[in-house]
Amino acid sequence: MMKGAKPNVLEAIGGTPIVKLNHVTKDIDSEVYVKLEYMNPGGSTKDRIGAYMLDQAVKEGKLKPGGTIIEGTSGNTGVGLAMWAAIHGYKCIFVLADKQSKEKIDNLRAFGAKVVVCPTNVEPEDPRSYYSVSKRLADTIPNSFYVNQYDNLHNRNTHYNWTAPEMFEQTQGDFDVFMAGVGTGGTITGCGKFFKEKMPNVEIVGIDCVGSIIAHYHKTGEICEAHSYVLEGVGEDFIPENYDFSVIDDFEIVGDKESFLMTRKLLKYEGIYAGGSAGAAICGAIKYAQKQKTPKKILVLLHDSGNRYASKIYNDDWMSDNGYLDASFNVQIADVLQELEKNNSVETIKDNATIGEAISLMDGKGFTQIPVLNNAGDIVGLVSEKHLVKPVLMGEFQRDDNISLAFSNKYKVVDKNELLENVAEALLKKEVALITENGKLVDILTEIDVLHYFSKKDRI
Ligand SMILES: Cc1ncc(COP(=O)(O)O)c(C=O)c1O
Repeated sequence: MMKGAKPNVLEAIGGTPIVKLNHVTKDIDSEVYVKLEYMNPGGSTKDRIGAYMLDQAVKEGKLKPGGTIIEGTSGNTGVGLAMWAAIHGYKCIFVLADKQSKEKIDNLRAFGAKVVVCPTNVEPEDPRSYYSVSKRLADTIPNSFYVNQYDNLHNRNTHYNWTAPEMFEQTQGDFDVFMAGVGTGGTITGCGKFFKEKMPNVEIVGIDCVGSIIAHYHKTGEICEAHSYVLEGVGEDFIPENYDFSVIDDFEIVGDKESFLMTRKLLKYEGIYAGGSAGAAICGAIKYAQKQKTPKKILVLLHDSGNRYASKIYNDDWMSDNGYLDASFNVQIADVLQELEKNNSVETIKDNATIGEAISLMDGKGFTQIPVLNNAGDIVGLVSEKHLVKPVLMGEFQRDDNISLAFSNKYKVVDKNELLENVAEALLKKEVALITENGKLVDILTEIDVLHYFSKKDRI
């Protein structure tokens, strides 16, 4: 055995760092520290519960050699279980809700697991729900073990015996508040119980999402109606057995959009590449901090890695198509141009030019599109690289043909004093806005410019 090496990947789970947030928290007096659980080998804190629950199942004789591990999982627990199964030689079947990201599903299949995808918007008791399907599979497949992270108390025991003592040792208990997103309740309950035993004054605060029933139940003891939401991993539409509300002092409730925008900010300003529930947790921590009379040291557990959300939260098209990029288009185009420090000058070409001249101009200056003006300086068209180069290569146009043959109609003319909302739809359809002042062209605005504007304005 090589010195310093771990005997297998399961031994590499845990020991994740705690780091201070320095930028996204600049408007609050409290300090926020984050436990980077995405640094576990499978990319989430669920590596811990996967290994722990299965070790216990073997000890208790519930999982026997050659058996099949079955679980309803939002993806992360599946990876943790699959890693353990790979090392110990077991088969896995995972049941997922169809709102889970494609990366999570592909990941589990890559581990050799069978993946069954079920509809998200059905009641837990519905035979199509992923809870019902998991249970049915476990009842019908011989020598199978249904892990059931919701009601298997070794989920919260994992965090009581492992994650929380690790954080306590790292910090020597030097924090006032512990916060974590809640799903099965394992993290908040296991950590909460351990910290309450060691630190009588600690506050334990869960982060739930709009649409979930957990925080409402904690406050009122009543089960309310659940509504759909897009965040993955946080919130539930029933109360799993892992909850012990006596160790949870309070909840903060956050929405999809603010959570996704904060997830992006964590990466942009703190270099922390985490999943959506991490953004939710930090929104919750900031809301909590804003209500405090004295500054607190807040420790927040971030559950999983951002690379499971590359096609969603970290994809501009997905964010904008779903309305998560702040659609505050209620701003004058002139202000947008000023914020972008555009220099009010735009390269144009005359309507008597040839296609060859337009291509040379674009080539020389690196433009992808050029507005075409007549002798009076009025806009008569737009030529774009896409509409010019291919037809020339295919022999449809000659280089000395007149430019008007290659006009593109993918533009909208708008005065700089109009609101951005008047061109927002066109820009999102990848058209360009030709900006005029007193009828004369002064600038061009593209979808990328608008994204730059919003990111400068701190909206992403
Ligand atoms: C990404 C993510 N965040 C938060 C949670 C919530 O943690 P717990 O189930 O321990 O309450 C989960 C659990 O599935 C998760 O996958």
